[in-house]
Amino acid sequence: MNRIGIIGAMDVEIERICQNISGIILHQVCGLDFLEGFLMETPVVVVRSGVGKVNAALCAQLLITKFKITHLINTGVAGAMTSGLGVLDMVISTEVMYHDVDATNWGYESCTVPGMNRTFPADSSMVKLATDACKKNFPSKLCIQGLIASGDQFIGSNEMKEKIKSLCNPACVEMEGAAIGHVAFVNRIPFVVIRCMSDMADDNGETTARFNEKEGANISAHIVCTMVEALGSH
Ligand code: ADE
Repeated sequence: MNRIGIIGAMDVEIERICQNISGIILHQVCGLDFLEGFLMETPVVVVRSGVGKVNAALCAQLLITKFKITHLINTGVAGAMTSGLGVLDMVISTEVMYHDVDATNWGYESCTVPGMNRTFPADSSMVKLATDACKKNFPSKLCIQGLIASGDQFIGSNEMKEKIKSLCNPACVEMEGAAIGHVAFVNRIPFVVIRCMSDMADDNGETTARFNEKEGANISAHIVCTMVEALGSH
């Protein structure tokens, strides 16, 4: 039986999901609240990780080791990077990577953790289910599949945006997906990152993100709910 782990960094990113969970059992581990229950009749464990790569990695490993999840989903908002992608559009990860890792002086490729692959591939069936769920719920919304890059920085300047584009040219940036993909990959757990654009990761990024965060987080969460229903029936 599938058991889906769901990670959102902030309360607003998991709120809509938690409202739809039945039979909740609360587990507190490492100061984190893991909500175990059923979402659309599918067994799930949902956690608010907190922001950033280490918080996300900690939750991913706990979900795998302690809660025995079979699939991992990361939901939330992100900053749009690729041209044509706008605020409240969607990105579904085909792969994830770090934009803030630099061991180039040591002879490694940019954005690459020594000894690891540069990118971590998302599970193609989960990518398809997430894309189908987006098209079903939001038929007029732009939903693209692409590379998601993560780092421990909110990207809110044109200068940083251009730098990241030149490093790895991602579809969007956020602060957790690559850490979750990294942990899922080494544990051989299928994963996907689902992100709604709250901002353009540019000079207006912080203001735009604050304005769109709730709506974006709810759109992404809605897609997760539909996707989980499909995963449960697989
Ligand atoms: N999450 C939402 N917008 C973001 C941005 N511009 N940079 C990093 N994480 C984000």
